[in-house]
Amino acid sequence: MNQSLQELLNELEAFGQGNDQANPERSRRMLNITRDTGEFLSVMVQATHARRVLEIGTSNGYSTLWLAQAAQAIDGHVTTVELSESKIDMAAGNFDRSGLAGAITQVSGDAANLLEAESDSSFDLIFLDSERNEYPGWWPNIRRILRPGGLLVADNALSHADEIAPFIGIVSEDPAFSTCTVPVGKGEFLAYQAYR
Ligand SMILES: C[S@@+](CC[C@H](N)C(=O)[O-])C[C@H]1O[C@@H](n2cnc3c(N)ncnc32)[C@H](O)[C@@H]1O
Repeated sequence: MNQSLQELLNELEAFGQGNDQANPERSRRMLNITRDTGEFLSVMVQATHARRVLEIGTSNGYSTLWLAQAAQAIDGHVTTVELSESKIDMAAGNFDRSGLAGAITQVSGDAANLLEAESDSSFDLIFLDSERNEYPGWWPNIRRILRPGGLLVADNALSHADEIAPFIGIVSEDPAFSTCTVPVGKGEFLAYQAYR
């Protein structure tokens, strides 16, 4: 990773921590992944050669930058969707500064609409970091657009275990998927869809 991207990530970490401590209102928080989660995602993207990455929940783009620098290294691309207009604007500014904008497509709006519109097997890796109570309803489309052999990663598997439990239950009971939770950052739930 180049020095300027490292410095931008450092800056966003400090900003996110300060902002989230100062703002009790959830919608104004950045709620970024931890640095070790970024490192983990970067390795996952490159090791699985995931060239088509989807992120649900951009916020100001901190996690997107980790995904994008990894995707760019393998000639890949990240599509990221976010509902909040103000966060979309912040992320766009950060992507321009990062030099990674060419490896990122920002989608504005409800993830449910994007999930519905995407074709079958469109993505090699999907990173889920949004409203956890929506995940069970999104699952049929997430399952459909993740290619066989693809990887799903969901954040907050340990930090919000009760909230994400219904989703983890549904995916874990699906015979097409092998699953585990790893104690990185806030807890990462992994689901691998075997080839059919
Ligand atoms: C935990 S934050 C994402 C943090 C980001 N992944 C990071 O680590 O930098 C969750 C984001 O999901 C967005 N969100 C919530 N519901 C959404 C929906 N239905 N569609 C798209 N984005 C949504 C929120 O506005 C919020 O910015």
